Amino acid sequence: MKVTIFGTGYVGLVTGACLAEMGNHVVCVDIDESKVERLKRGEIPIFEPGLEPIVRRNHANGQLEFTTEASAAVAHAQIIFIAVGTPPDEDGSADLKYVLGVAQSIGRHLDRYTVIVNKSTVPVGTADRVHKAVASELSARGAQVEFDVVSNPEFLKEGDAVEDCLRPDRLVIGSSSERATGMLRKLYAPFNRNHDRTVVMDVRSAELTKYAANAMLATKISFMNEIANIAELVGADIELVRQGIGSDPRIGYHFIYPGAGYGGSCFPKDVQALERTARGVGYPARLLGAVEAVNHDQKTKLFDFISHYFNGDVRGRTIALWGLAFKPNTDDMREASSRRLMEALWEAGATVRAYDPQARHETHRVYGDRNDLVLCDSAYQALDGADALAIITEWKAFRSPDFARIRAALKEPVIFDGRNLYEPAVVEEAGLAYYGIGRGRSVLRTDQS
Ligand code: UDX
Repeated sequence: MKVTIFGTGYVGLVTGACLAEMGNHVVCVDIDESKVERLKRGEIPIFEPGLEPIVRRNHANGQLEFTTEASAAVAHAQIIFIAVGTPPDEDGSADLKYVLGVAQSIGRHLDRYTVIVNKSTVPVGTADRVHKAVASELSARGAQVEFDVVSNPEFLKEGDAVEDCLRPDRLVIGSSSERATGMLRKLYAPFNRNHDRTVVMDVRSAELTKYAANAMLATKISFMNEIANIAELVGADIELVRQGIGSDPRIGYHFIYPGAGYGGSCFPKDVQALERTARGVGYPARLLGAVEAVNHDQKTKLFDFISHYFNGDVRGRTIALWGLAFKPNTDDMREASSRRLMEALWEAGATVRAYDPQARHETHRVYGDRNDLVLCDSAYQALDGADALAIITEWKAFRSPDFARIRAALKEPVIFDGRNLYEPAVVEEAGLAYYGIGRGRSVLRTDQS
């Protein structure tokens, strides 16, 4: 089928590449000329495993094109996806200016029946606003063209985005038009080969489904972080508690890992936006507010440990930091817990020597050159001259380090682990104190020693 996608960010680019891979003719539109030029040369602006080969291959064979020209792109399409950003505005609500801007642009050029698909995560009711924006542009030029607006939220995870897109666990279609539903079913038929993963519903339910999914996942994490904080105080080990509860299939093992808080482009923004939506319709969503508040505090948990260890004074200390990205297999620094930790350390007068397998450039882009940040080429290089080690992203490469080497390099023998990567006894046997999240007994042991 002929597909146009507005927005070449994570969602737009991955969706475009995967739809092209399935044999569709896809045109991706972006207003950023230099980004479009880079994409044409096969340069991918984000680090996402498996994306580059399918973008290059499909671009080379003409199935995937990149342009800044909205008019030709609209004329090309039977189905148009809107996959532009919805950043939070000042009060945490999703800002729809990009989505509605694209809707207007579609309305200016539309000349035959087209299905317009909201792929961006947008508040309930946005499809209606997109419909109005397109319709008013059409009537401004006296054009009578039929179109439908449907919601088809994306559930991809960074780092697994291509896999999630090619093998989705569900395809949610929110539509009030059988014609539009039929076209999307046809588009997604190759993704549904062994069994039908399509869930068709009304538009508003589809819009809310996306927020509900992310809010539920964020809730699981904040819940576990809250239990971890209790575990710490009562002398229990959250890692044992996690295994104890995860074995109940109603709870499950997924997404119950305690840590230094969730980050990324979705959870923080979507939990806040849903809370604002609820408030806007007169419902005080207390649970969502608490999920957000627990996460906010959790991001400074490691700083609190570090500060406590150094008797409240880290001025002049150097902290080695392993991990910068908000999670492994990405270079994304949006809302990363590392940022809050580094900013708190800097504020308190410490220097950070950081290593991340992918996020070095992104970190430099965010913070620029500063005397209290040294970006290192390897995990062990980050330890040179450091007082202590903190870990904030669970990259595989950090999972089984040489503890003796860490012990020898650090001025103070201590690891602050924001992702519970190690067994406290193993670290302590190597002569290092160990602070994990919610692992009370270990903290008490090191405190007593
Ligand atoms: C998320 C959703 O998983 C995805 O379905 C949605 O489409 C977009 O938002 P993503 O932001 O890529 O995807 O990251 P994800 O893997 O879900 O992790 C989010 C954050 O939660 C990370 O900071 C991670 O470290 C943290 N996390 C995750 C935990 O702290 N504990 C867990 O058990 C799981």
